[in-house]
Amino acid sequence: MNLDQPRGRGVARILIDEERLQARIREMAAELDAHYGKDEPLLVGVLNGAVTFMTDLMRAMSIHVVIDFMAVSSYGASTKSSGVVRILKDLGEEIEGRRLLVVEDIVDSGLTLQYLLDVLGRRNPKDIRVVALLKKVKAEAASVQVDQVGFTIPDEFVVGYGLDYAGRYRNLPYVAVLDPATLNETEP
Ligand code: PRP
Repeated sequence: MNLDQPRGRGVARILIDEERLQARIREMAAELDAHYGKDEPLLVGVLNGAVTFMTDLMRAMSIHVVIDFMAVSSYGASTKSSGVVRILKDLGEEIEGRRLLVVEDIVDSGLTLQYLLDVLGRRNPKDIRVVALLKKVKAEAASVQVDQVGFTIPDEFVVGYGLDYAGRYRNLPYVAVLDPATLNETEP
């Protein structure tokens, strides 16, 4: 947790350290094992941000799982969701009749997730469950389906553990709040 490393430069403070992240992920994995029992869910990771969470979560689960990924992109400013989403990469797996577990790194406005749930729901899976590592405390996010949340966090711009600012900081092993000065730089 050395903030002097290049990858930590621009970070104001650590919000959730590695130990808390991993302990909570083990709890969530145990709940998912119990929920699915003998069934084999298809884990749908939402690229790029969910990669880190997805790989740790699936390795903490002890039941059989199958994995696939979708990539979506929201248009607009880099630190705010615009609500307009487009599919950059679709699933390779057929999902009709299957049990889906959508794995998200963060639910902010909830618009990305709502879009994904609409798209996936139209393909007639048996059921869809949503697990998000982080969820912001804000009214807009309240109405979207999230079945399991790792941590509820304040409405601040967070990076690390998969989350980026201008493409950087995804490889931090913790979740952190960026220094406002970093957010004001055009070239972080
Ligand atoms: C982030 C994050 C979620 C979404 C949450 O993705 O991974 O998918 O924003 O925001 P919302 O709830 O306001 O829609 P982003 O589009 O930044 O792409 P990334 O995963 O590649 O960073």
